[in-house]
Amino acid sequence: MHRESATDFSIVGRSDLDLLCEFLRFRSVSTKPELAPQMRQCAEWLCDLLASNGFDAEIAETGGHPAVLARGPEAPGKPTVLVYGHYDVQPEDPVGEWTSPPFEPAIRNRRVFARGATDNKGQILAHVLGAIHLLKEEGSLPVNLIFLIEGEEEVGSTNLDDFIRARRGELRCDVVAISDTGMVAENYPTLTQSLRGIAAMEVVLRGPSTDLHSGIFGGAVVNPATALVGMLARLHDHHGRVAVPGFYDNAVPPDPAERAAVAKLPVTDDDYLRETGAPALGGEEGYTAAERIGLRPTAEINGLTSGYQGTGTKTVLPAVASAKLTFRLVPNQKPDRILNLVEIFLQSLLPRGVEMEVIRGHGGMPYAVNLQNPWCAAALRALETTFGREPALVREGGSIPIVQSFHELLGCDTLLLGLAAPDCRAHAPDENFPIESFEAGIRLHQNLLRELAAGA
Ligand code: BES
Ligand code: ZN
Repeated sequence: MHRESATDFSIVGRSDLDLLCEFLRFRSVSTKPELAPQMRQCAEWLCDLLASNGFDAEIAETGGHPAVLARGPEAPGKPTVLVYGHYDVQPEDPVGEWTSPPFEPAIRNRRVFARGATDNKGQILAHVLGAIHLLKEEGSLPVNLIFLIEGEEEVGSTNLDDFIRARRGELRCDVVAISDTGMVAENYPTLTQSLRGIAAMEVVLRGPSTDLHSGIFGGAVVNPATALVGMLARLHDHHGRVAVPGFYDNAVPPDPAERAAVAKLPVTDDDYLRETGAPALGGEEGYTAAERIGLRPTAEINGLTSGYQGTGTKTVLPAVASAKLTFRLVPNQKPDRILNLVEIFLQSLLPRGVEMEVIRGHGGMPYAVNLQNPWCAAALRALETTFGREPALVREGGSIPIVQSFHELLGCDTLLLGLAAPDCRAHAPDENFPIESFEAGIRLHQNLLRELAAGA
């Protein structure tokens, strides 16, 4: 469905910040099926914004939540740039921990607080508004610009590969640009050089056919919660290494040059300690926090559920226990293989008296940009012009699985120009985006298009 392309600039009368707040009010939580109507409304809002401001925009159906696909006016002879982002957000839980409600944007200390403020609504809207303003001021864009803004990034982009395959011709581009990563410090220009891959799974242990009285039956049957925590406790050894046999077999070890580069970044273990509020740092021995995050694979428990979770006590022997796990991967580790290894390992630890079910989740390959690519030089210039200092090059621990797909399916590199401040609290309560970063993002988009046009 193509929306009417017009140039009535319906943003007149609404400031950039108003538009961000409108965008943030949609409860676009992709993982909750009951919010599908909100997801679609959010996509339509975005699509209308682009369509009424000079873009040929459509709600593009995928097998899941829709994407927004929009194309700027043609710029003959100029490169084609695809800007990717996502309008879906993580669940707001635990909602009681928020200072103000997660879907009622609030401004405090020159920051906008709301779920998705940084990840990724604020960052992608900065690009959209950068392009809209540029088009309005100059009557044209310096490059052929495509926006692909999806609704399933936070659930693994499971339908986007097929979508890209199906519409490959229209999506053909010279380079992809994404702002969905971090900055080493607020206003410190940062180009992300690599992302980790990811493999997700859920483990469910079932024991008795129903919950039991723990006094009447406890001691006589295996407690699935006890069994599960015992198994999960074996995921790491005493040196903080992942103890799954074969886990590190293909992982490319960091070379001394990479470690030296990480050591030069303006972030120390003390910064991580302060930002996380943890009493001490922990992880694989022999590495700094930045190395553990950027260069090493990890295993995390993301959720653990069993038994009574309410106030007070309940003497129950739960029938079921489950855990959600993810593994972050470095080059040469493959999600499927890692999940196979973990499943075999957990099976080997499974005590008699419980049965195990493994439900596999999404997976994504790691990514590293080719820094010799001339587009990277253009991106670095745009970052430097926008923020007035030499950009940092970082290796990030997060994952954006579609980036590797862009490489494989469209044959192009991705420029990761993150705008997230270290204390943006993505995925956590009180997520926020500094207004200054939002405004800088708008300028960054414009500088980026100019540099990419010049560098072609
Ligand atoms: N914006 C993040 C990815 C990110 C964050 C990369 C910080 C680098 C630094 C993205 O929205 C995200 O959260 N991705 C998920 C991917 C997963 C659900 C497949 C992630 O990394 O957990
Ligand atoms: Zn995210």
